[in-house]
Amino acid sequence: MVPEKWVSALLLLQLCWTGCGNCGKVLVWPSDMSHWLNIKTILEELADRGHEVMVLTPSHIFFVDYYQPSTVNFEVIFMEIGRETVEDLLNDFLELAVNIMPNLSSWQSAKKMQDVFLRSTAYLKHLCENVIYNQTLMKKLKEANYNIMIIDPVVPCGDLIAELLAVPFVHTLRFSMGGTMEKNCAKLPSPPSYVPVPMGRLTDRMTFLERVKNVMFSLLFDFWLQQFDTRFWDQFYSEALGKPTTLCETMGKAEIYLPNFEFVGGLHCKPAKPLPKEMEEFVQSSGEHGVVVFSLGSMVTNLTEEKANLIASALAQIPQKVLWRYKGVKPATLGANTQLYDWIPQNDLLGHPKTKAFITHGGTNGIYEAIYHGVPMVGLPMFADQPDNIIHMKAKGAAVDMNMNTMTSADFLNALRTVINDPSYKENVMRLSKIHHDQPLKPLDRAVFWIEFVMRHKGAKHLRPAAHDLTWYQYHSLDVIGFLLACVATVIFLVTKCCLFSFQKFRKAGKKKKRE
Ligand SMILES: *[C@@H]1O[C@H](CO)[C@@H](O)[C@H](O)[C@H]1NC(C)=O
Ligand SMILES: *[C@@H]1O[C@H](CO)[C@@H](O)[C@H](O)[C@H]1NC(C)=O
Ligand SMILES: *[C@@H]1O[C@H](CO)[C@@H](O)[C@H](O)[C@H]1NC(C)=O
Repeated sequence: MVPEKWVSALLLLQLCWTGCGNCGKVLVWPSDMSHWLNIKTILEELADRGHEVMVLTPSHIFFVDYYQPSTVNFEVIFMEIGRETVEDLLNDFLELAVNIMPNLSSWQSAKKMQDVFLRSTAYLKHLCENVIYNQTLMKKLKEANYNIMIIDPVVPCGDLIAELLAVPFVHTLRFSMGGTMEKNCAKLPSPPSYVPVPMGRLTDRMTFLERVKNVMFSLLFDFWLQQFDTRFWDQFYSEALGKPTTLCETMGKAEIYLPNFEFVGGLHCKPAKPLPKEMEEFVQSSGEHGVVVFSLGSMVTNLTEEKANLIASALAQIPQKVLWRYKGVKPATLGANTQLYDWIPQNDLLGHPKTKAFITHGGTNGIYEAIYHGVPMVGLPMFADQPDNIIHMKAKGAAVDMNMNTMTSADFLNALRTVINDPSYKENVMRLSKIHHDQPLKPLDRAVFWIEFVMRHKGAKHLRPAAHDLTWYQYHSLDVIGFLLACVATVIFLVTKCCLFSFQKFRKAGKKKKRE
């Protein structure tokens, strides 16, 4: 038998070893695709630092491989709405995203995105009900005494679960259509004079007409387009919490809205690791010309035959070798210099010294990797924040923006040649890269610091702007402006009255004098 003393000593030693005096329990409400890839980086880091991480995940999810051994744990929510429904939703969306969205104006594109979000309401309601109305599950979660919930706010319900469990929560990723959730619910200041409304395809340097467009967009998102069926969710949340509330109010209770609060962009970027052997050989075979890396992101893995041929024939004409992540049928025009892959280690490839350019759909993860490693880009944006991201990179001189639906093979070839051969693109992206690396702490460390901060202090209410306690007219100081205008009006009124009075008196006196 090992004496008890020894056991405690061993435990103590282990604590010192992992260096985690303040380890806690973390509950996670994730979402799918690239959003999962991003949050996963934070969760794995938290697990490495000794925290216990539990992810609530629906059974029908594409990117969360909850059956694989992992340092984070999963609580799987089994769903009656079958995989087909989710796949149908996804396929319809991809069809729209790849073939239609690039042709649409920012206006029309936002409307289409709204339709997609609203279509998934029934599924999200079902998912949420399967958690909050499952007494066994809620009891289990309550008894686990979580210290914090980490929530991807792109889908509702996470904040509701946190409220029901009375656990402080932190929002990670930023993205709501038009930025309305961040602006109106999280009170992120967003003056439309210089903050471009997300999905408006504008930069922070706007001409007068662009500012008009930005204000119109801001109003459009505030009063007409919406990402969530707010009327439905307001009622759902009120019923679940047993008191009148709104989705916006509940989401606004987040202790920290991470990316609004700390600049943690690129937290997933890492120095490149060596490539798989065959891939390295292919890259080396490019000689002094180098290689081009091409991916349309985690969701879009194939294209129509026509589009794939157009792109492949342009790629065939450059002296570089091309690594293309593509799962569709091999295009007939594919050149000998181009290799197709089901999957590529994107970060490692972008960090390879032979990489000359990155052809990207403009998702934030890929853009940050390109900035981190200093690789100029050709953008083929499709939906959501992608057109904005590419436009911002173009404004910095680090990318060329292309429209996949309207470009010809020659246009695409020209764009590629420009980015590879015009040294200004490389210089500009290297400048962004140097700025990005010049930080006292890595973005991931800062993200984790603030999550642990909220755990240590059981919240961070002192960091929340007092804007949460104001009405909209107080927030915009309309009451003060009204009051001051009333003061000025009163003064003007009194002064005019006085003047008139004395003038009349003066005239009367004058007349009297004349008569005399
Ligand atoms: C997109 O626009 C181009 C040119 O305006 C047109 O040729 C093409 O057919 C359109 N594509 C779709 C899917 O509407
Ligand atoms: C409720 O949650 C428990 C624990 O996760 C699970 O075993 C059970 O199947 C769930 N019940 C329903 C009806 O989904
Ligand atoms: C991509 O592949 C899926 C499944 O194989 C198919 O349903 C879809 O139509 C394809 N998309 C395009 C644009 O070809």
